[in-house]
Amino acid sequence: MIFDYMIDAGPIGVFDSGIGGVPIARKIRELLPAEDILYVADTDYAPYGDKSDQYILDRSFAITDFLISRNVKAVVVACNTATTTCITSLRARYAMPFIGVEPGIKPAVLNSRSGVVGILATQKTLVTDSFAALAHRVSGNVKIEIMACPDLVAQIEGLKLNFHEASGLVEQYVRPLLVKGADTIVLGCTHYVHLAPVIEAVAGPGVLIVSTETAVAKEVQRRLEGEGLMLNNSRVGREEFWSNGPLEYFQKQIHHLWGEQATVQQF
Ligand code: DGL
Repeated sequence: MIFDYMIDAGPIGVFDSGIGGVPIARKIRELLPAEDILYVADTDYAPYGDKSDQYILDRSFAITDFLISRNVKAVVVACNTATTTCITSLRARYAMPFIGVEPGIKPAVLNSRSGVVGILATQKTLVTDSFAALAHRVSGNVKIEIMACPDLVAQIEGLKLNFHEASGLVEQYVRPLLVKGADTIVLGCTHYVHLAPVIEAVAGPGVLIVSTETAVAKEVQRRLEGEGLMLNNSRVGREEFWSNGPLEYFQKQIHHLWGEQATVQQF
């Protein structure tokens, strides 16, 4: 029997506590049409943003073990909370490439004319050493104003995404940053991208909203190329969406965000 193992043939694993990483998966799909994508939502254990380091580390290890059992060739940690808390531990434990996300403070600082940049993120992300180090490294003379948004993830997981449904809550988090003079607002949690149009509308036309899903997809491409893991052919890649939460609801979420053709599975 010939076992023709192709290291570049596995899917790209993408995980988050829930649907926050879907916009990143979408950008990966656009940039790398031949690649298979295996998306995991750790719905049963969401949110991560108010949990301990150990909890987030345990969940990230458990999800990575699952992704490895599905033969992924690289893992995208499509979650700021998990990246800031434990990407170093993931890289130390597993041999495969891990691509993390981080708030786009650097482009925001470059854009700001008022000298004040606002960051929306989970409570957990904002108290990590890696967030503090990033802000210190790239902020220069620009003032960084942080805002933890504890209720936004539940709002987004509930698919209450239009202006009418979400503007009240968004206003609570965005208004104080505007009052402090922020002219640039960083989405420091991948979930918040789903509310970017509402955040933009609440902030008004003079305020730039910065998110990083395109940069993350380009980094995935760069890493796969660098490691010789990229599929260079004209096949059409497929997506799989997995969750440990109620499957019918996950299907509703994924159909809403990806299209009716997407299929979901339970792990
Ligand atoms: N989407 C995640 C992040 O980027 C996690 C949000 C949560 O589960 O609290 O931080």
